[in-house]
Amino acid sequence: MSAASGDEKRIGVREFRARKTTGDPLVVVAAYDTLFARLADEGGVDAVLVGDSLGNVVAGFDSTIPVTLDQMIYHGAAARRGVARAMLIVDMPFLTCQLGVERAMINCGRVMQETGAHAVKIEGGDEESAQAVKAVVRLGIPVMGHIGFTPQSVNTLGGFRVQGREPEAAQRLIDEARRLEDAGAYSVVLELVPSAVAQAVTDAVTIPTIGIGAGAGCDGQVLVLFDLLGLTDRFSPKFLKRYASMAEDVRSAVRRFREDVVDGRYPDSDHSF
Ligand code: KIV
Repeated sequence: MSAASGDEKRIGVREFRARKTTGDPLVVVAAYDTLFARLADEGGVDAVLVGDSLGNVVAGFDSTIPVTLDQMIYHGAAARRGVARAMLIVDMPFLTCQLGVERAMINCGRVMQETGAHAVKIEGGDEESAQAVKAVVRLGIPVMGHIGFTPQSVNTLGGFRVQGREPEAAQRLIDEARRLEDAGAYSVVLELVPSAVAQAVTDAVTIPTIGIGAGAGCDGQVLVLFDLLGLTDRFSPKFLKRYASMAEDVRSAVRRFREDVVDGRYPDSDHSF
């Protein structure tokens, strides 16, 4: 971005790629609105991903499959208003990039135009996914890939489970990452992959890998912000480290507010006109 756009401090694709060689890990969180994107940006993340995990985390669905393009655009635009330095990446939801290259180009173009995002993320590493990535990159849209456990394929993957345990499956992940790199992706998410396999994938490509449940060998890490804040306390995958216990804070604050109202302590004269 040019200085004229006021975006000279923005983390961009070049910075992402450079981190592969400098070895400074990339730090990414998934967030879905202006407030939390701003707090993450102020906390120093390199990128905010508006993940379609919002389907599970804030919309109450049991998968990401019901999430629509319009919903991603709404949340993407909101999160974009929160970030001053971090790159804003918007996830392409189910069916938006799987029904042919032209549909993928139109849908990614809409996301870029209507949210102000700096990049999109597309799930899948097979030939068709790579063709979509290549076409979208040719439009000038940076694409982050996503392989390993790809939540939009939860029904064919047999649930929320680690991918790439068998040697052929591990080799397939390496092939997919190379394919996405060749297609022009600027980075790739590795989700739920054994650490040794994630390390092998990371060593096999020149673009940064961003891990979630993929061990310490990746070039960066991503977590859902509400997970690391401890807001989603019914979700406890092995990879998740919680840095706060906000679900309990929220319940306790609401309980105390309720008690104050019921007992006539709120509002008092200090909080009245
Ligand atoms: O949807 C999402 O939040 C994601 C990340 C967990 C990588 O895809």
